[in-house]
Amino acid sequence: MSKQFAVVGNPIEQSRSPELHHAFAEKTGIDLVYSKRLAPLDGFEANIQAFFAQDGMGLNVTVPFKEQAFAACAVLTERAKIAKAVNTLWMQDGKLHGDNTDGQGLVNAIKALDWKLEDTELLIIGAGGATRGVVYPLVQAGAKKIVIANRTLARAEQLVADLKPAVPQATLEAISLNDLAGDFDIVINATSASLTGDALVLPEALQFKHAYEMAYGKPSSFLDQAKARGVPTSEGYGMLVGQAIESFSIWNGVKPELKDFL
Ligand code: ATR
Repeated sequence: MSKQFAVVGNPIEQSRSPELHHAFAEKTGIDLVYSKRLAPLDGFEANIQAFFAQDGMGLNVTVPFKEQAFAACAVLTERAKIAKAVNTLWMQDGKLHGDNTDGQGLVNAIKALDWKLEDTELLIIGAGGATRGVVYPLVQAGAKKIVIANRTLARAEQLVADLKPAVPQATLEAISLNDLAGDFDIVINATSASLTGDALVLPEALQFKHAYEMAYGKPSSFLDQAKARGVPTSEGYGMLVGQAIESFSIWNGVKPELKDFL
């Protein structure tokens, strides 16, 4: 029988994970079936237990269950502990294991663009779960300073206070979205503004060499402004593929090449 995998979320119809994992399987010669699971908002744990009871090998977890997945795990990777969110689950020795591959997915996507991360100064706009998941992997990949700008300053300050101990080799700073200024190697939009169609304003006092939008397939005022400045830009499809590759490699022990799937 084929190995069974799935992504669980609510809603789940929009997920691109099955097509990605089937493409990786075809490329690497692994026999698997990857499906979508819609869990009721109050039924996440029962849903994942049923999956593993039926010999499911691995689950991806998406909105809104990543924090519940984190809480359900008996064993967590370091980066999942720091993110306080889990997007990749598997059973090992009868215990539920959890990892978070989102941040490494972003790192892989940035590397595939040939934008360097070693010794860089980054600006991340947004201080929600998306930012929490990427700071540690970005520092592991060489970022030496990360400024986190948020509409609600207190939330950025809390994030910086929480994450500082995990990245002692880097400088972390919180600023208000109203105070965007300085010169950065890469600016990353980790807000949900593009998903809701809201505009972000990048003032002239803010200079940057590259711009990465975590959302994909949506109009983005952030990317429009970056393109108008003539700097290299990317939307977040590469991050999506990157996190999927990391999950695939945890479960199957083979790592597909990101560039083959962009
Ligand atoms: P996620 O888990 O995707 O990061 P989240 O936790 O809801 O989602 O966080 C959304 C982020 O987008 C927050 O940083 C939010 O800013 P606030 O903390 O001030 O709410 C930011 N955000 C959402 N809409 C925004 C907008 N129109 N302009 C600026 N920031 C916005």
